[in-house]
Parts: sequence; C-alpha cells; structure tokens
Amino acid sequence: MLKLPKDFLMGGASAAYQVEGATKEDGKGKVLWDDYLEKQGRFSPDPAADFYHRYDEDLTLAEKYGVQTIRVSIAWSRIFPEGTGKVEPRGVEYYHKLFASCAKHHIIPFVTLHHFDTPLTLHDKGDWLSQEMLDAFVDYAKFCFKEFPEVKYWITINEPTSMAIQQTVSGTFPPGTKGRFDLAFQAEHNQMVASARIINAYKEMNLGGQIGIVHALQTVYPYSDSPEDKHAADLMDAFEDRLYLDGTLAGKYNPETLSLVKEILDANNQPMFKSTDEEMAQLDKAAHQIDFVGVNNYFSKWMRAYKGESEMVHNGTGAKGTSVSRLHGIGEEKKPDGIETTDWDWSIYPKGMYDILMRIHNEYPLVPAIYVTENGIGLKESLPEGATSDTIIDDPKRIDYLKKYISAIAKAINDGANVKGYFIWSLQDQFSWTNGYSKRYGLFFVDFPTQKRYVKKSALWFKKLSETHEIPE
Ligand code: BG6
Repeated sequence: MLKLPKDFLMGGASAAYQVEGATKEDGKGKVLWDDYLEKQGRFSPDPAADFYHRYDEDLTLAEKYGVQTIRVSIAWSRIFPEGTGKVEPRGVEYYHKLFASCAKHHIIPFVTLHHFDTPLTLHDKGDWLSQEMLDAFVDYAKFCFKEFPEVKYWITINEPTSMAIQQTVSGTFPPGTKGRFDLAFQAEHNQMVASARIINAYKEMNLGGQIGIVHALQTVYPYSDSPEDKHAADLMDAFEDRLYLDGTLAGKYNPETLSLVKEILDANNQPMFKSTDEEMAQLDKAAHQIDFVGVNNYFSKWMRAYKGESEMVHNGTGAKGTSVSRLHGIGEEKKPDGIETTDWDWSIYPKGMYDILMRIHNEYPLVPAIYVTENGIGLKESLPEGATSDTIIDDPKRIDYLKKYISAIAKAINDGANVKGYFIWSLQDQFSWTNGYSKRYGLFFVDFPTQKRYVKKSALWFKKLSETHEIPE
C-alpha cells in the first residue's frame, strides 16, 4: 500500500469569490466579475456557499473529517473597496474572525492574496497591464502581512497564466477579449513581477512565515511522435507552463523558452512582452527566497500541429465532447483514444501529476518545497430524494480520481519530489467562474437553495487517509 509522509498535510481549497457570497455586504467593493456576470445573466455569485456567514460550520465539518489545512483567499475589495486608499474595517474584522475560527478548529490557513477577483476600479484602469494595479497590489499585500500576523502561509497569486489567458486569449474571463496572446504574456510577466516584489517585501519584514505562488500546471504531451506534434507540445508548454516556472522558480527566462514565446507571437503578428532589468532583478531575488510553489493540476493535454485560425469553444455546461481548442501559432488539442474524460472534457491522467512534480524537482532545484494546491474532479451531483441531514452522498468517481492522483503524488515523493501537502479542490461545493453551480467538486455537498451541508463518501475516504497516511483501497 502506498503511504504519504507522516508530516504530509491534507487540506481543502477554496477562493473568496467562489464561496463567500455576500458580494454587497459590509462595504465590499465591486470586482471585475460583478457587473460582467449580471450582464451575462447565466448565474449569480450570490450566495455561493455563503461562507461569509457559515465559515465556522464548514470548519467544524473540515476538522471532523481530517482536513488539517485550508486554502482561503482574501477578497482584496473587502479590505480596500476601491483597491487602494480607504480601508473597510468590517472586511478586516471578517478575516480576523475567519482565522480565529481556523485556530479554534486546529486548521492551518494557507491564504491567497489574489484569486481572480481584481477590484473593479483597478480592472477598469488596465488590470494586470497597469502599473497602478501592480503598485496597489503590493501595498495591499504589505497591509495584510502587518494586519494578519496569525497567518503563517501566504500565496501571492493564484494561477497568473489561467487568469491572463482567460482574460485575453479565450475570452472566458472578463473583459472577454479573444486572441491577444501579447496582452496575456505581458499580464503574466507583470503578475510574476508583482508576486516577486511581494515575496521580497515579505522576506524583508521578517515575519517568520512562508510564502509562495500557485500555478496552473498541466503536463503537455505530443499527440504523436511526429516532429510537428512534438513542436506543438513544446509551444503549448511554453505558453502555459514553462515561462512561469522559469520566471518564478529560476528567476530568469530560459532563452529557449523565450524563443518559443516569440514564435507564438510572430505567428500572430503580435509584439513580444516587455521587461526591465529592475524587474528581472526582482524575479531573480524572489526565486532565491521563495518557500514553496503550489501546483494546481487537474488534467493533461495532448497537442498536434495546426495551421488554421484560432478557434476556442469552452464547455461550460458539462455537455461532454463540446470543447474545442485550436490556437493559431501553437497547435490543436487532441486527446489520444482511450483517455478518460470528465463531462467537462478534462482528461483524467494521474501520470501528468507525477510528471509535473518530477519536472519541478528535477529542473527547478531552487524551490524548497511543493504543495499540490488544487486537484479534484467536477461532477454533476444532486441530493437524493428524501434526503435527511444524515444522508451521505455517494461519489465513487471522486474517490477513484483521488486514489489515482494521490497515488501519483506518493510515487513522486518516493522518487524524491519534496511534496509537503495536498489540497483537494474543493472543500465544499462552490461557485465555478464559468460553470456556475452545476460542476461540483466538494468533499461536502452544498444544497444551494437551502445552503445545508451534506457529507460525501469521499470525505469519509479523505478522513481515513488523513488519519493513517495510507492511501485507502
Ligand atoms: C482552478 C481555479 O483553475 O480551477 C479555481 O483556481 C477553479 O478557482 C478550479 O474553480 C476549477 O475550475 P472550474 O472551471 O471547473 O471551476
């Protein structure tokens, strides 16, 4: 039986906007999503999982089911409603209460400073492309470090890449721009610089905690052995993984990575991103001080050569087989026969998790530790008829998924990767940015109209693993 190390932390993940609800309460400022979602009219971020009012109930459940640590994010606009300037004391107070509840339940909070919820005022001024936003983000981070000394694990930014790509390439995040690879690369570089400045500032403040960044990392494989497909995989890897591993964990961009990036931009007639010597010095300094990297890995990708126009169709409904991803200058996603997928077309491929962990271990030796900060499976789940508060929701597919992926992590640890913890996405069912409420990931089921919580079988499985550190059959 595969085992995890004794001090390996078992956790559950969340993000403020996806769980808190209460988007208009206690002086919270607007974020880029509020008007955008209202205009779309597909689903509302309120009340999400109503965590703003029910955090203690969720932490009670978490403690009972062996969750030792949770990822939460601070909603920047609860603290600075305008992104900068005046502080909202009710927002500050809420997070103190949340962290006190964590302490009461013996749960360690890993706190993300930015999880896709840029304050609207700063979004309107250019978002990650504006210097004003970057400076305001650094100021907000320093404020949090001083205000919340009870937090010992900080994450600067959640998934700079997926934020930028969805904002300006696929157009699935506000403002919904499509095909602008140049803007995405610039925004990603800027996020890495902001993250580096924050890591360097945190280390100077000498607060005794740990700090890292979280990346969305999916291993990319060629569809076939042809040189063209291999090259398409290299381009996709540079676009989605390698540039960010280089920038945040090596502190410099490998020339080969940059030439792949340039090839993508040239093919799309778009300019290369800009960087200054000062910014590169910040990246270098941060890469030598970062305490950990967070890996969000759910699926892997297979690429084949493609010469046509970009075409992206997002499967946001769970209608299997509806997603399309063909990127001009990169390639086309095409899964080989026999690869299992979810209803949202995400591949289930635990070897991809093993491979990304070993890659970080082998190629980015500066980073001392790795946490798997998100992994899990989105499923269509419903409350059985006649359910009572004791009803346990059966989710065999999730247990099977967790078993396979956590075994892949255990194998990577056996092979030398310093993986220190695992956070299931998600702790409780929550609001999904582009899928609403039908894609459930939680260990705990949330009945969205009533907000009642129900335990899933995967939570029982998780508890056993957390207590024994042996991966249950
Ligand atoms: C991660 C994000 O990329 O994936 C989460 O950090 C997100 O915020 C999760 O919810 C799952 O994605 P989705 O689209 O299925 O909700």
